[in-house]
Amino acid sequence: MPITIQTYATKEEAVRVAADAFEALIRERAKTGKTAVLGLATGSTPIALYKELIRRHKEQGLSFKNVISFNLDEYCGLPGTHDQSYRYFMNEQLFNHVDIDRANTHVPLGTLPDAEIDAHCAAYEQAIRAAGGIDIQLLGIGRTGHIGFNEPPSSETTRTRKVHLDELTRRDNASFFGDVAHVPHHAITMGCGTVLDAKEVILLAWGEPKADIVAKSVKGPKTEMVPASWLQDHKNCVFILDRAAAAKL
Ligand code: GLP
Repeated sequence: MPITIQTYATKEEAVRVAADAFEALIRERAKTGKTAVLGLATGSTPIALYKELIRRHKEQGLSFKNVISFNLDEYCGLPGTHDQSYRYFMNEQLFNHVDIDRANTHVPLGTLPDAEIDAHCAAYEQAIRAAGGIDIQLLGIGRTGHIGFNEPPSSETTRTRKVHLDELTRRDNASFFGDVAHVPHHAITMGCGTVLDAKEVILLAWGEPKADIVAKSVKGPKTEMVPASWLQDHKNCVFILDRAAAAKL
């Protein structure tokens, strides 16, 4: 199934469209007392979306009481109190500002000893299944073609596991850490297979630096060297882009 492409003149417009999809799901489920299961992402790309969802919570009564969330990934070695951990990011960028029950928010734990990581990853997958599976998985994309932290090569069957980070990814994230030397070398991430199990996938990308990898993911061969290209196999995947990110399509 080809990936659906939606291109907007501005990031702000694109963000409103993505927020509409999340709002519609959350409100529709709330009407019948059901939960909405969201797969959430970090990085600079989704920040504007989280701001818009917070605005809708504060100004338009959008409640997150029925939301269960699962984040894609977490750096190894960083506790949730570290300001570069993805748990900290999610608290700051979304959870602290809406009425989500913190017990319903899941981010992989980056601080477990190696011997406990496999069991933790299996439990994370089990928790997603027990919640009924992910309704909408939000994604950004790294310049290596990674989704979550599934660096090339990552097959379409990968599940939640510990991974090694690509040097380009570490350099791209260095500014957040002050110095590339402080960027962890490993992370725990949902797999490509975990992402592909979501009922719907929304990938956001802004700006010229993402144009090449967006084009490769959408039009290139499906390959473990571009993990985002596996999204071509998904039945309900949309890329919501600004003009610059869509420039090479
Ligand atoms: C990190 C995250 C990814 C994210 C990517 C792109 O590597 N693990 O989930 O998509 O960064 O980041 P940005 O949105 O800042 O370009």
